Amino acid sequence: MMIFPVQNSFEPFALAPRELPTPVLVLDGAIVRRNINRLASYAAKHRLGVRPHTKTHKSKVIAQMQLNAGAIGLTAAKVGEVEEMSKVGDDLLLAFPTVDPARCSRVAELARTKALRVAVDSATAVNSLAQAAAAAGSIIGVLVDVDVGMGRTGVATASDALALAELVTRSRGVRLDGILCYPGHIWSVADQQSVQLSAVDNKLQATVQLWAAHGLEARIVSGGSTPTAFQSHLVRSYTEIRPGTYVFNDMNTVRGGFCSLEDCAARIVCTVVSDAVPHQVVLDGGTKTFTSDICIPARETGHGHIVEYPDARITRLSEEHGQVDVSACARRPKVGERVTVVPNHICPCLNLQDAVWWMEAGDVQRVRVDARGQLS
Ligand SMILES: Cc1ncc(COP(=O)(O)O)c(C=O)c1O
Repeated sequence: MMIFPVQNSFEPFALAPRELPTPVLVLDGAIVRRNINRLASYAAKHRLGVRPHTKTHKSKVIAQMQLNAGAIGLTAAKVGEVEEMSKVGDDLLLAFPTVDPARCSRVAELARTKALRVAVDSATAVNSLAQAAAAAGSIIGVLVDVDVGMGRTGVATASDALALAELVTRSRGVRLDGILCYPGHIWSVADQQSVQLSAVDNKLQATVQLWAAHGLEARIVSGGSTPTAFQSHLVRSYTEIRPGTYVFNDMNTVRGGFCSLEDCAARIVCTVVSDAVPHQVVLDGGTKTFTSDICIPARETGHGHIVEYPDARITRLSEEHGQVDVSACARRPKVGERVTVVPNHICPCLNLQDAVWWMEAGDVQRVRVDARGQLS
């Protein structure tokens, strides 16, 4: 896997005002808008719908911006997220296996007033959703999840997908709408993705054709991810894409070569709280701020990138401490100094914050993380 160096041309992000206690997650509003618009233009050019995954921001305000930029609907992983997002969106997708009666009845309740679809990869899920919908008097749309190489969820073959599709058409309360896949295994650089993406397309086309041969239509074929977002046109079966991380980006997307540091809208401002150990400083953020996620394309780079000290390496995290090796830095950060960190994986970091700070044109606004902690 090719590792992209971080460009040092980046101008350090304006630090949060002194009164914001650290660690604090700050969003550069102009970058968020640019990221949203860039994907919207690409998708419009290729006639693809965008149904962004809201797990990255969990925020109604940002979901509304995506809808204003032309998103056809919103995606979520959790029922609690979908419930939050239903306050701004009318067309919702739960891209997660939903099998237990309690969750299914919340979904069915929501489907009374919203266009709601759920991804399924088991007969248990179809039966639970159908039962809940019949009880609620609603109809839940179903996308059959097909595994296109990640090996996480999704049925393995076109005929397995047909069997589930036929079960859906035989069940009351659920409606067969199409196919879902997630190409989360594709992390090669954008211009080297065509072989893997055509394998994805072959599998989707085989499924669509098998369904058609049995009189079933896949009106929706939903796929996409941030690493493959701008190559989605290579999967001709897609009718829509669901990237999530693209809205903020992070060190995974920078080091993977899918964007530059200038495209990272979310930064965590920390304070240096100790320099007692030689060649090291300590930040006031640990796993409860950054999570323990490593950088997928560059594991050796540590727990995030310090913008003002690109040669520093966050080597070790405990819950509230981030140990930084500064031996390669020309200047050592001082105790009390604030630094800006781009985390490896922004989505779970955001889920650790009740609110984040939106900075735009000299203004600072607090943005609630509406679906924070919604894990069921
Ligand atoms: C089912 C599904 N769809 C879409 C996405 C969004 O992908 P990305 O994080 O690459 O933007 C995810 C991410 O976890 C996912 O699990």
